[in-house]
Amino acid sequence: MQCPVDAAQRPTLWRSVDPDEAEDFVRTVHDELPELGPADGRINDVRAEIERTGSYVHTATELTHGARLAWRNASRCIGRLYWRSLVVRDRRDVTDAAGIAAECIEHLRTATNGGRIRPVVTVFPPAAPDGSGPRILGDQLVRYAGYAFAKDVVVGDPSQVEATERARALGWPGGPGTPFDVLPLVVQAAGGRPELFELPADAVLEVPLSHPDLLWFAKLGLWWHAVPAIARMPLEIGGLVYTAAPFSGWYLGTEIGARNLADTDRYDLLPVVAERMGLDTTSDRTMWKDRALVELNVAVLHSFDRAGVTLADHHSESERFLTHLAREEAAGRTCPADWSWIVPPVSGGVTPVFHRYYDDAALTPRFRSASEASTT
Ligand code: ARG
Repeated sequence: MQCPVDAAQRPTLWRSVDPDEAEDFVRTVHDELPELGPADGRINDVRAEIERTGSYVHTATELTHGARLAWRNASRCIGRLYWRSLVVRDRRDVTDAAGIAAECIEHLRTATNGGRIRPVVTVFPPAAPDGSGPRILGDQLVRYAGYAFAKDVVVGDPSQVEATERARALGWPGGPGTPFDVLPLVVQAAGGRPELFELPADAVLEVPLSHPDLLWFAKLGLWWHAVPAIARMPLEIGGLVYTAAPFSGWYLGTEIGARNLADTDRYDLLPVVAERMGLDTTSDRTMWKDRALVELNVAVLHSFDRAGVTLADHHSESERFLTHLAREEAAGRTCPADWSWIVPPVSGGVTPVFHRYYDDAALTPRFRSASEASTT
């Protein structure tokens, strides 16, 4: 039997949407989409709905534009030139864990699009005023397991050791034990328990890595997946918080070649590549790390191109970002940007984004960072 909620407890557990935030957002949408006409009628309705229920329901247009604005405001993202093209999948009617998992799988298929990657967000119901909302546990829809055998001995992605252990604790038998075993999804419906769902192989496009000149490279048996789909960052629009709103764009080569495969606390492959290249690794001053890093990045770009899978390179993406910035300024808007995320992790100074500073205002709508994942 359910206990009745004591009304006196409401103020601590229960948090109404801020009507001013809702109003600001609705006004922005009407300003930016003049075909909607004046905002006042809609603002009155929204205020009345918040007064009555503690929350309000976005129209499909508000949700779509709000999600696009969250991308436009993402100060760490270099790929924002195409923010208007974001495909917004409105799945606010899907509440059970199995339904959410099925829609995440469909998200991957829509985003993958046979290799011509499309930016997509799938939006599940927002958190209720009591803070409960659906959640996808794990930082991306597609991640490779990290099996920890002993201290410092990990097969797979060391950043996923915890996620792998969580999946095991929920009953995942484990994959075949390769360094690139795809983890299952872990989904929690609002107020429910975490549940496991395997990703079907045909929903996860992967690219085998080879190098245009170094023939031994293909024998390293390296892969990466085509779609980076962030799963754990809540989407905040007009005072509402969508706790499950996975979103994806396409990869920038350096994310894979200069970070995922190269970082010493990830796949740590520079020593392996350098050794195969015959480089002298006895001193940092031989630049063996730098030389291996470049070849690893050449391999990533070459392999995605060969597989017909969209992948940006840091030179053209930097140019595009400056185009975006100029367009935003021309529209009379600030484009928030975080230098330390925008500048690529290789060859920073040979890209134009290095040679300037940026405003880094915190604007909403926004995707909240995982560390602020709570609903308040
Ligand atoms: N850096 C993350 C990764 O390597 C992905 C972050 C989002 N990247 C993107 N291109 N949308 O998996």
